[in-house]
Amino acid sequence: MIEKSKQIPVDSQGKPLTDNAALLAWVAEMAALVKPKEVVWCDGSEDERKRLTELAVADGSLIKLNEEKLPGCYLHRSNPNDVARMENLTFICTPTKREAGPTNNWMEPKDAYTKLGKLFDGSMAGKTMYVVPYIMGPAGSPMAKIGVEVTDSVYVVLNMRIMTRMGRIALKMLGQSNDFNRGLHAVLDCNPERRFICHFPQDNTIWSVGSGYGGNVLLGKKCLALRIGSYLGQREKWLAEHMLILGLESPEGEMTYVAAAFPSACGKTNFAMMIPPKRFRGWKIWTVGDDIAWMRVGKDGRLWAINPEHGYFGVAPGTSSKSNANAMVTINHDTIFTNVALTKDGCVWWEGMDGEVPDELTDWQGRPWKKGSTEKAAHPNSRFTAPMQNNPALSKYADEPQGVPISAIIFGGRRATTIPLVMQSFNWAHGVFFGATMGSETTAAAAGQVGVVRRDPMAMLPFCGYNIGDYFAHWLDMQKYIVNPPKIFMVNWFRKDKDGKFLWPGFGENMRVLKWIVDRARGRVGGQETVLGWVPKAGDLDLSGIDGVTEEQVNEATHVELDEWRAELESQSEFFDKVGDSMPEPLTLTRKLLLSKIARLRDGGASVA
Ligand code: GTP
Ligand code: SPV
Ligand code: MN
Repeated sequence: MIEKSKQIPVDSQGKPLTDNAALLAWVAEMAALVKPKEVVWCDGSEDERKRLTELAVADGSLIKLNEEKLPGCYLHRSNPNDVARMENLTFICTPTKREAGPTNNWMEPKDAYTKLGKLFDGSMAGKTMYVVPYIMGPAGSPMAKIGVEVTDSVYVVLNMRIMTRMGRIALKMLGQSNDFNRGLHAVLDCNPERRFICHFPQDNTIWSVGSGYGGNVLLGKKCLALRIGSYLGQREKWLAEHMLILGLESPEGEMTYVAAAFPSACGKTNFAMMIPPKRFRGWKIWTVGDDIAWMRVGKDGRLWAINPEHGYFGVAPGTSSKSNANAMVTINHDTIFTNVALTKDGCVWWEGMDGEVPDELTDWQGRPWKKGSTEKAAHPNSRFTAPMQNNPALSKYADEPQGVPISAIIFGGRRATTIPLVMQSFNWAHGVFFGATMGSETTAAAAGQVGVVRRDPMAMLPFCGYNIGDYFAHWLDMQKYIVNPPKIFMVNWFRKDKDGKFLWPGFGENMRVLKWIVDRARGRVGGQETVLGWVPKAGDLDLSGIDGVTEEQVNEATHVELDEWRAELESQSEFFDKVGDSMPEPLTLTRKLLLSKIARLRDGGASVA
């Protein structure tokens, strides 16, 4: 039976859910388009979770894992053609191409609605259409936004239930308001030829068709919280960023909050859940968020951040008790795994996990796998979806409607050369230059070639919902509102020696870099000025008790080589040209100024900045 807009939707107990006229009308309109056999409104209850999980197990889309070892956990195998975000099928649909800018795929809104409308037409025939109301941000937060995702995928519903505050709570916050994101999603036959992820910023609307995976379909995440969010942020003078948020607590109880943008699969979840090494006894990291930050200026002139999400959609490979013990605890109950390998006793496995490699496994595609096989058992972009409450290091402010005050912003990429372990910008605009010119090697988080350096400004290349040049201008303009701005840094955990080995041990040892950053932000540790920014002097980084790293390696990881930087700045010109006229002048001039300073130093015979 199809709900009529006049009818009040009810939960499984028959209790009314909402009488919001705008919402009822829109849901009726979507139902008329996709023509499902029934419409089910999600209330977010435990009963509903059980019922939908049973359905998914019955139809094979979820596999129940070992209840003793992994209580409440399930495995999902996606279509092998649908294992990551697809940037080439992601579109920003604004009235003009200029608004979408040179880094986004663009479709004219009417054309996009027509094209996708044909695909959606009757797409849910014989199926259930789920209506998923959700909040991005703590309930009642002035920063929070409401979305409603209509979907034919139970897997999406169950993931949205973990990743957002979902169900009745969202409808309650929405009340009679018409201000909600309208998300429509159908898997169809999961054919890449019929796969499109379209954003209509002016309509606060997202239409996603033909995929069942992650960022393509959990519409609150990259689509709303970043693409639509960044568009709203520009209009409403706040920032929607691909950033983790963490709090560092000193042994004396002093808290410092930091936000960090690293591109997809470049270490946000790991950094946000880091456990400091022994040397830092008494220091503690608290996770506020691991992927997205919404930041606005508070009355005190500082930048305040919330994590709009309620769970983690984290990279599985490489996660172990050595690299990320907090994540290992987080995912040992009530977690949905996607595209990991399955052990004989109904547990999960991936490359880089603790312990011996099992002799036999079922791989991510459900095929038998033997130790020594040249193929990976888990997909490189296999993931876990886990509730944030599972995290032993969850900040007590993760649910705080006002968020947390940010003292430092960090930009970091995956770079084998050039970029030093850490560097501080001279000021806000110079920090914006750091972010805007970030480069990083591509990873398995998006379909396509892995390991190629590309510009990924602020780790937002795939997520900026409008013209990237205007986005840079917005960042520069924010300075006038932020009276007490955070200090801005760049980091690189991924610099390699000539044999291709990482120079820096990373993970928990990143605490040493974080400590310098926090002390710099609080103006209480030394630094060395170079033409490119401030770096730690010998002795400024606390390296006591560090294992398996020589002084030469640290020197190699931290040094700033003028010739490498000249090549780096020169290679940025391609991106600057691409952004063209919309690139703000302060950034264009900064690049030229740095090149000219380097040229002068080189002429004077210097090689290190
Ligand atoms: P998304 O969820 O895709 O946005 O990624 P993320 O930025 O949260 O990345 P995540 O923390 O999941 O890390 C991805 C990969 O980077 C994993 O394979 C990690 O093992 C690796 N990694 C994380 N931190 C470090 C580090 O400090 N050093 C090195 N060498 N590798 C790291
Ligand atoms: C990323 O790719 O940055 C992710 C995973 O966090 S996804 O949700 O698929 O975008
Ligand atoms: Mn991400």
